Amino acid sequence: MIYLDNAATTLIKPPAVARAMVRAMQTCASPGRGGHKAAMRASGLVYRCREKAAALFNVPDPANVVFTMNATHGLNIAIRSLAKPGTKVLISGYEHNAVTRPLKALGTEIIVAESPLFDQAACLRAFEERIRGAELAVCTMVSNVFGFILPVYEIAALCERRGVPLIVDASQAAGVLPVDFQKLGAAFVAMPGHKGLLGPQGTGLLLCGERGEPLLSGGSGSDSLLQQMPDYLPDRLEAGTHNVPGIAGMMAGMDYVSKMGLPHIMRTEQLLLHDTVSRLRGVEGVELFTGAEGTQSGVLSLRIRGRDCDETAQLLSERGICMRSGLHCAPLAHRSAATLDTGTLRMSFSPFVKREDVKVCCAAVSELCSAAG
Ligand code: ALA
Repeated sequence: MIYLDNAATTLIKPPAVARAMVRAMQTCASPGRGGHKAAMRASGLVYRCREKAAALFNVPDPANVVFTMNATHGLNIAIRSLAKPGTKVLISGYEHNAVTRPLKALGTEIIVAESPLFDQAACLRAFEERIRGAELAVCTMVSNVFGFILPVYEIAALCERRGVPLIVDASQAAGVLPVDFQKLGAAFVAMPGHKGLLGPQGTGLLLCGERGEPLLSGGSGSDSLLQQMPDYLPDRLEAGTHNVPGIAGMMAGMDYVSKMGLPHIMRTEQLLLHDTVSRLRGVEGVELFTGAEGTQSGVLSLRIRGRDCDETAQLLSERGICMRSGLHCAPLAHRSAATLDTGTLRMSFSPFVKREDVKVCCAAVSELCSAAG
């Protein structure tokens, strides 16, 4: 099987991830729930993971690293903490439904800073032009559909100057590009554990610049007499028993990422991207969505003239090639790129993708193009 759907989840993980999960299941009880050895072992593991995440993302205090079940969970906490019905929220034109649906559900007023694909200057300008009156901003670091790297540090500086709190969606950036919490100065940064961080599904992190409002209430292992959630992090936002095996796996994934280094991971994915583009550029009937150097991560969307994207993905799947097609839960990004009517076919890389995989995939795509005439 050739796996090129890493923007959805990185299926191939370092072997240490599964080993860490099994070890945690066999040795760890519930963190913060008991002073016995198995509970203390779990507490230690969970705290070590917080410390590693704090180091990787430059969070001054590990207590401000909150475990979530995915990026969507973290984004919901962040949005519910900062917005209420009628809040004016400025978002990029590349946001995922994980941002737009919670904003809609809450009844906020959404203002879209629309900008053309792969144009970082225009993206920043769109934020500058629309920020007046905004009470909250939400911005993704990288489009999950096109790999467009948004100028989020510049947008963060703008928000800081204008006193607008910012929520950053680092779903496609964490584990690939530097996510520097202090430099961003964001109110919240949300990310999954199962994509670039190479951990298991069901894990995520919310980096908190403020205390936040709990989405769930329940046991925290602390202040049990209180009938509200504690007012301090991380307990305030972590109700119920932790996903300890998941956290153990995510920590092993983060260790792998730290050891490899972000520049190496980014370089590997860029080489795969360039290789793919050079193989497919010029193939009759292929339309590639590519940006200038420094504007695109290891995600490539394409369309084939005369072929439906979903059908093409199915034909590729029958040849053992896994790619995602359609709208990728991000209709807004497709609207910005004018691909809403067709969707796209998306290839997304990871450090485990081989050059040979790219070669086989590109040959299959080229063949489908010639068959389409
Ligand atoms: N947001 C994920 C994707 O892009 C699931 O496929």
